[in-house]
Formats: sequence, structure tokens, C-alpha cells
Amino acid sequence: MLYVGIDLGTSAVKLLLMDSKGAIKKIVSKEYPLYFPHPGWSEQRPEDWFEKSMEGLEELLADCDKSEVAGISFGGQMHGLVILDKDDNVIRPAILWNDGRTTEECDYLNNVIGKEKLSEYTANISFTGFTAPKILWVKNKEPENFDKIAKIMLPKDYLAYKLTGVHCTDVSDASGMLIFDVKNRCWSKEMCEICSVKEEQLAKIYESYEAVGTVLPEIAAKLGIKDTVKVAAGAGDNAAAAVGTGTVGDGMCNISLGTSGTVFISSKNFGVDKFNALHSFAHADGTYHLMGCMLSAASCNKWWMDEIIGTKDYAKEQEPIQTLGENHVYFLPYLMGERSPHNDPQARGTFIGMTMDTTRADMTQAVLEGVAFALRDSLEVAKDLGVKIERTKICGGGAKSPLWKKIIANVLGIKVDVLESEEGPSMGGAMLAAVACGEYASVEDIAAAFVKVVDTVEPDPELTAKYEERYQQFKQIYPACKELFKKIQ
Ligand code: XUL
Repeated sequence: MLYVGIDLGTSAVKLLLMDSKGAIKKIVSKEYPLYFPHPGWSEQRPEDWFEKSMEGLEELLADCDKSEVAGISFGGQMHGLVILDKDDNVIRPAILWNDGRTTEECDYLNNVIGKEKLSEYTANISFTGFTAPKILWVKNKEPENFDKIAKIMLPKDYLAYKLTGVHCTDVSDASGMLIFDVKNRCWSKEMCEICSVKEEQLAKIYESYEAVGTVLPEIAAKLGIKDTVKVAAGAGDNAAAAVGTGTVGDGMCNISLGTSGTVFISSKNFGVDKFNALHSFAHADGTYHLMGCMLSAASCNKWWMDEIIGTKDYAKEQEPIQTLGENHVYFLPYLMGERSPHNDPQARGTFIGMTMDTTRADMTQAVLEGVAFALRDSLEVAKDLGVKIERTKICGGGAKSPLWKKIIANVLGIKVDVLESEEGPSMGGAMLAAVACGEYASVEDIAAAFVKVVDTVEPDPELTAKYEERYQQFKQIYPACKELFKKIQ
């Protein structure tokens, strides 16, 4: 049998075709535009997601035995607000996970409703990228659109809806909406009231590995597949990546180096940290996880390479970087503001420490190191909670760079396990589809069967000590700039 995983990302949709044994048969990627209509705003057109996903599916399945396709599922960019009217038209462009427009609504939620109540209802507090403050923003700033809302969905759930006609979501993605009771895996009545949302506007909730239905006959006909092909609910991209990298069960860690950067820690038990510094979400394997999310990770390198230096050859740019742990240049990677742990939409990217002998390679290195230091910030919060992390998996576009993996292993002081493939969310999506089709009994079983570690980057004690000093310096830069960031908006 064949399974399709669709990773609905921020820069592109990536589609992966996998067989029953976990062998990757084909990967297709289709880009779509990302709009920044104001500084700090970030939007995409759900119609583009569907159009490009369908194009991608046609290409992906072009030369396989289509009668073998049994299941489709997703990993999707989280938190995005998609709203449809009563005729299923998209009301306005989706407001994405890295959008910072909801400062006022977050202040209202965190300070007027109060963080304690939010944490009691949802296990989380409000961050600008989360969905609930966006619903309030539409209510406050676009009341005519708010009045039209018949269905509220998350990005990947829009694809599931177009493929199956079922208004569904899964527990991991719903966790990032701030209207979901994570502990009890159901919608929060209190949060629905606070956000003026009726439960019938929200989707039916599934576990990530459950089938929500089958493809609609017209979709089956267009793709040339059977109309019995099952669609599983899928997961938020980080939970799907965790499935794809075998980060399931208790105390496992995965780092995703995509547009965002996340530190994901799986946990059999529900838990919340005292300050809600890490997100406490449901996991796609039926359990829970903690997660720190930085808003710009591999996207910092992409920005530096594509926009500033003007090259596509990232590996060549990294070649002259030979000495680690001694760079005098630092980079704050807050190009879209920052979520974990600073929760500051006004934070900005910053280079500091340059001298007349600073080279282009030093600056490139500072970008890679700045992202690693910011990931360490989230890991530190987890460590403060008593979570012991000795090793991590890694996935995402940034994980292709051996240099970046070495920097991360040494800045974080943990072993980095390199997998046969870095295809986290799309692989995870295909694996969830296989579980939904009964190919494997559980997410843990399929992960144990499929995920193979091919190499481990060990931290070098001498280099880790050098980076420890650098990290202590890095930590002082954001507090020194914080007030200034507010003034230079
Ligand atoms: C997680 C988050 C990002 C997006 C990126 O909370 O906001 O990782 O899911 O697609």
C-alpha cells in the first residue's frame, strides 16, 4: 500500500509518497506566496494552499500504481486562522503563526482574563501567533468579517475539508488555538465564551491517527485514486515532525529547523510549567508534549543568504567557517519578533560585535550560532522544569547543514541524532495515514519500525565550554536591547 504525507509549510507544501515499509518513493514541493501587508503581519491565501497541494498530488502520484494509494494525512503550519462563510468561501486571507498584530488582544487575554484562568482552561497563555487572539482581532478590527464566520479552521484542516468535506481538526493542532482544553482533549466552553465563538463554528476533534473520512468522489476522480482512500486528521507540523523522527513516548526530544525553530519534548503525562514559558500541547501519539518555538530559525539563514548576501549556495558560504566557539559577532534571530521564551512581538534581528576585521563568514556563522543560542533558551526552560535531555533528533531544511548540526550539538551540549531522512512533518503525516489505515497498531509501533538513526553528532567538551561562555554573553543582548526595540517600531 502507499501513503501520502502533506506538509503544509509556510514557504511551500511538501508532499511525500511512502510505502508500507516506510521507503520514500517520491517527494514533490510546490511554493506559494507569503504576504506581509504591514510590518509584523503575515498572511497566506488558503486557496493557494489547496491549488498547490492538488498540483503537487497530481505530480506525486503521476508514475505510481494509483490503486495502491490507501491513505493521506498532514503535518500543517500551526495556529493560522482560516475563516469560511456559510457558503464555504474563504472570508479573508489566513493570519499565520508568525503574525504579530494581536498585541492588544493578547494583553486583554493575559492581563484582563488573566494568565491563571487561561492556563486553567487551556494549559497555555496567549501569544500573538495563537488563534484565539486572532479571532478577537477579527471581532475588534473587522466586525463585518467576524459576523460572516460559519467555520473556523486551522491551515491543514482547510485541506482536509476540501479533500473530504469533513470539518475536522486534531488534538495537537487544536492545542495551539487557545480555545482547546489540552488536558481533557476537548473544546473549552469558557474560552469559546471569551472569544464569542459558538462550538458549531469549530471543527470536530480527532486524535491525529484517526480517519476523518474518505476523499470526495470528485477529488478521487481528479487524482485517479479510489474513493475509498482514507484521510487521517494529521497533526500540527511539530507533532507530525516528532512522529516522523520517532519522538514519541516519554522524554524524547526533537529540534525542527524550519522557517520556525522548535524544541519538542514528548511526555506520557500532561504537565504545565509555572510560567507557561513552554507550550503544553497534546501529542499526535495520544499523549502530550512541551514545546518552545522561535519564530525565525532556518528563515534567518535563508534571509541572510538570499536577501542580503544574494546566493543560493548555502554550503559554499559555510565552507570558510572552520573555527567554532570564538566568533566575536553575535546575532539576535528575532526577525519576526520572538515567541519562546521572550514572548515579544517587538523584538528585532540584530548583529552586534563587528570590527574592521569582521568577515562575511563571521556574520554567516553568527546567524547559525544565534539560532542555536535561541534554541538553547528554550532548552534551558525545559531543564529548569527538571526535564533531562541528553540527546535530540533533528529535522527540517536547516538540518541538512553538517556545520549547523555541529554548532547545535555544542551550544546545547547534547548529542544530535541524525536520521536517514530529515523529512519530519511530511513523513509523520504519511505515518499517521498508515496507522489510520490499520497498517500499524499505534504511532509508537510505526515509529519504532520506520525511524533509523544513521549518525550521531557528539558534543566536544572543549567546544561546549567555549560556547557556554558565548551563550552567557548572548543572553545579555536581548535584555539590553528590549526597551530600544519598543522605540524603533
Ligand atoms: C509552533 C509554531 C510553528 C509553526 C510553523 O507553535 O508556531 O512551529 O507551526 O509552521
